[in-house]
Amino acid sequence: MAPLLELNHVTKRFGQVVVARDVSFTIEDGAAVGIVGPNGAGKTTLFGVMSGDLRADSGQVRLAGRDVTRLDAAERTRLGIGRTYQVPRPFSGMTVFENLLVAAQQGGERRGAASHSLAASALERARLSERANLRAGQLGLLDRKRLELARALATRPRVLLLDEVAGGLTEPEVREVVGIVRETLAEGVAVVWIEHVVRALLASVERLMCLADGAVIGDGEPREVLSSAAVREVYLGSEAAFEAAS
Ligand SMILES: Nc1ncnc2c1ncn2[C@@H]1O[C@H](COP(=O)(O)OP(=O)(O)OP(=O)(O)O)[C@@H](O)[C@H]1O
Ligand SMILES: [Mg+2]
Repeated sequence: MAPLLELNHVTKRFGQVVVARDVSFTIEDGAAVGIVGPNGAGKTTLFGVMSGDLRADSGQVRLAGRDVTRLDAAERTRLGIGRTYQVPRPFSGMTVFENLLVAAQQGGERRGAASHSLAASALERARLSERANLRAGQLGLLDRKRLELARALATRPRVLLLDEVAGGLTEPEVREVVGIVRETLAEGVAVVWIEHVVRALLASVERLMCLADGAVIGDGEPREVLSSAAVREVYLGSEAAFEAAS
């Protein structure tokens, strides 16, 4: 059977700068994968190429065997690629619940009752029930992160791409986000999680990739990847990221 998500020889440039260099990997159904790498390594760019927000200059993206390289982000959302954004993008004048209704519809659920129940379950999963009627623009950091997660969940993804949903949170808040991610995995949704908070990844994923300068320089069992010479090398001078790992 075809893997759930597949990147084949993806290259992406911004002007002269190459931010993804011939990147190839596969994500299996239900997999839990973390992505680390220094600032500017090209992690978010890779999500853009997967979600359709960005076009690869060359190479291919496949979802469950289907070539989606030329489909736009809205079409890929309907096919099951859900993502969060490093800088959250809610409709700030709408309530939390209204944002989730929109997301459910973007995921392809047009029927009123069904999109309502998708929105309600995303609300609950992301621990936002008490915020349902607040405007998104009024939320604090943790609630904005929760809403970003809930919006992606409401699209009913087969694979969920998380971009730094634990960044800037306190320790108990990070644990809460880990709990949400683990519940999502338990439902069979594949998760690919970009995160600088390495301990959150170690509590959630079974595979870790490390990206540096647009290339995959490590991929495998998380602790082995973190202790590899190539990965340690790119993190020289920013050992803080490895506190929890070592
Ligand atoms: N739209 C864009 N136009 C031009 N350059 C860009 C654009 N988006 C990103 N870049 C550049 O591409 C490189 C990779 O950026 P990207 O955001 O993918 O890195 P990242 O690994 O997600 O970093 P961080 O950990 O800081 O989020 C950086 O040098 C960035 O400045
Ligand atoms: Mg990024």
